[in-house]
Amino acid sequence: MEITLTLNGKKRTASVSPDTMLFDFLRNHGCYSVKCGCETSACGLCTVLLDGKPVLSCSVLAVRADGHTVTTLEGLQEEASEFVGFIADQGAEQCGFCNPGFVMNTIALLREHPDPTDDEIRAYLAGNLCRCSGYEGQTRGIRAYLNAKKEGLL
Ligand code: FES
Ligand code: FES
Repeated sequence: MEITLTLNGKKRTASVSPDTMLFDFLRNHGCYSVKCGCETSACGLCTVLLDGKPVLSCSVLAVRADGHTVTTLEGLQEEASEFVGFIADQGAEQCGFCNPGFVMNTIALLREHPDPTDDEIRAYLAGNLCRCSGYEGQTRGIRAYLNAKKEGLL
C-alpha cells in the first residue's frame, strides 16, 4: 500500500507492506539516527516525533504515519545543537549509543515544558535506557542548559 507523509519537512510517498514498522521505513529513507536497541518498546533508542509527539518507531506501523508529520534527529540538528554540549559537559554522553533517543526525548520535553522541574525531566527520560550513566549527568546537563538560557548566556 502507498503512504504519503512529511518526513523532516519533505513530502515522501512510498509503497509499504501492512506490517512495515515505522523504524524500518525511516532507516530505508536515510534516517540513520533512528536506532534499534530492543524492538520491544523498552529502550527508547528508536524515538521519533509523530506530529510533534515522541513515539517509539519500533512499535508503530508505517501506515500509521500516512498523512502525518514525522521528525527524526536529522531534521532537528539546529534545535539539538543548543543543548547537546551541556549534556556532554556533564559526562553524560559516554558510549553515545542512547544519545539519539535521549536527544529526541529532551526536545519533546523542552517543547512541552520550557522550564521543567527535575521530576518532569526524569519522567521524560524514564523510557530512554542508558547502560553507561546513572541519569544524574543527563539531568544536570539539561538543568545547566536551562540555567544558561535564564542567565542570557545563550
Ligand atoms: S528499539 Fe524501540 S524502544 Fe527499543
Ligand atoms: S551513554 Fe552509553 S548507553 Fe547511554
